[in-house]
Amino acid sequence: MCGIVGYIGDKQAAPILLEGLSKLEYRGYDSAGLAVRDGDKKVKVVKSKGRLSGLAEKTNDGKSLKGNCGIGHTRWATHGEPSETNAHPHVADDGTVTAVHNGIIENYQELKEKLQRHDYNFYSQTDTEVVVKLIDYYYKKYQVGPIDALAKTMVRVRGSYALVVMFADYPGEIYVARKDSPMIIGVKDKECFVASDVPAILNYTRDVIYIDNLEMARLSTDGAVFYNLDGDVVPKESSHIDWDAKAAEKGGFEHFMMKEIYEQPKAIEDTINSALNDGKIDLEAMGLKDDIIKDISDITIVACGSAYHVGVAAQYVFEDIARIPVRVELASEFRYRNPILNEKGMVIVISQSGETADTLAALREAKEMGIRTLAIVNVVGSSIAREADNVFYTLAGPEISVATTKGYTTQLVASYLIAIQFAKVRGKIDDKQYDYYLSELKTLPEKINKIIDDKDRIQWFSAKFANAKDVFFIGRGIDYAICLEGSLKLKEISYVHSEAYAAGELKHGTISLIEDGTLVIGVITQPELYEKTVSNMLEVKSRGAYLMGLTSYGHYETEDTANFTVYVPKIDEHFSACLAVIPLQLLGYYFSVARGNDVDKPRNLAKSVTVE
Ligand code: M6R
Repeated sequence: MCGIVGYIGDKQAAPILLEGLSKLEYRGYDSAGLAVRDGDKKVKVVKSKGRLSGLAEKTNDGKSLKGNCGIGHTRWATHGEPSETNAHPHVADDGTVTAVHNGIIENYQELKEKLQRHDYNFYSQTDTEVVVKLIDYYYKKYQVGPIDALAKTMVRVRGSYALVVMFADYPGEIYVARKDSPMIIGVKDKECFVASDVPAILNYTRDVIYIDNLEMARLSTDGAVFYNLDGDVVPKESSHIDWDAKAAEKGGFEHFMMKEIYEQPKAIEDTINSALNDGKIDLEAMGLKDDIIKDISDITIVACGSAYHVGVAAQYVFEDIARIPVRVELASEFRYRNPILNEKGMVIVISQSGETADTLAALREAKEMGIRTLAIVNVVGSSIAREADNVFYTLAGPEISVATTKGYTTQLVASYLIAIQFAKVRGKIDDKQYDYYLSELKTLPEKINKIIDDKDRIQWFSAKFANAKDVFFIGRGIDYAICLEGSLKLKEISYVHSEAYAAGELKHGTISLIEDGTLVIGVITQPELYEKTVSNMLEVKSRGAYLMGLTSYGHYETEDTANFTVYVPKIDEHFSACLAVIPLQLLGYYFSVARGNDVDKPRNLAKSVTVE
């Protein structure tokens, strides 16, 4: 999705904006632009289609754009093709208003017609140009200043936006407005930053102020002042972000994805430790006291993509060890089918970014229905984290690669910890089982390191199969949940078609796709389901499939069935997803590398999906 950076201070803005935008490249974009202002001179705008390097070249790395105040943008096309004309910033005809925008203005067509009736002309196909000209219209019509013009615009537009605006009459000031699109304000002595995502400003400041929905702010060298829709000043405190700027850099790895695969043991250890108090799980700090846990009738997990896959795995764990009914829902479907939720139930939303539009909307729907909500989120201060009743923060640090790895495994660990605590508090496991589960969880980091150490075999195998047309993943129970994630990991970055199937379901249709040499990956980490899945693997093998088995050490008989077998260390079966997914992350990675793809920035995808 689009990226935004803005700067006002005592330094040259353009190089800071370019550097900030480069930190947001991972979000996916097709064009970029800068608008910089030198004192009260006219704003200069430079735009370029394609990579950020084009913009850097055009501006001599920002050096040719002089000025201490500026805004920058990377665009991921929604309205109008990727082109220099459609790239942001957009400017009102006489240069009164210049702005960049993330999000979607739903009623832009109607607003455009209104503005055309007032003699406005349009040079681009974007909804952003419409909103810029609407601000210009209100600014000139009412003549009460930027905040008033922005507030009037906010009342008139429908949709989502993070808007960063410069007004010709107000040099040395940047105005922002927000609804349902991520945006943070960074503050430092005599400097202010605005960005759509934390990594863009981490090199300059870690002190941020969160701007809420339907709020505006004025940024200048004197700091940031926040306003509500009535134009009243809203007092705010700044928060300190613990993430290290280095954590958002590649640190010697060729790709962020591999770096993040390697970071999993530490991220998991940190996440486990964050939930422990005196060696026991303590959910009270996140608002889940024992009497609340005892009173919850059922759980609905809502999420998108990999986070949804975490939910599928967590459902097995919760139901098996805590004996509480759980259903798992895709956030994009949940809100459109008038869900029936139990008033004593709890909705758990899972999101790495904390900004996924569908998940955020589902959270709001649950809250409107008066249901308790718990968010498992990685990004501190994100919209979902701020709006949920209770928050479990995963400690994965910044995740840059579009394909999630450490985000996914830390979400799994968070849900395991919650499930174990629910089981204990609700009397479904005794102290011995509780200690056993906890000690098993603590073995994850070391075991993941062991799997990563063995990555060369996966690399070799991936090089051999990288030209595959289709790949199928089959498994039962938790192994099916692992298949879902393995299949997504493969397809999203290698562009090889793949499907995940509950192993028993294959013969109800999909088996007709199996041909000579089709790669089928059988995941078999669940001892009770081992033989059943092996039978399904044999069914496809007898129809010509080439079989890869993914199982735990000890199940060496897998080699009698599979053509190639990958082993992961043994762990309590409830937690096997967290280990078995690692070879599949590596498989996706090496397929992608072998096919010469852009691993960290796969085509058509964005890291954080902030539109529905
Ligand atoms: O930030 P979120 O966890 O809410 O993101 C959800 C999905 O967009 C995300 O998991 C997506 O499926 C990843 N690209 C998968 O690698």
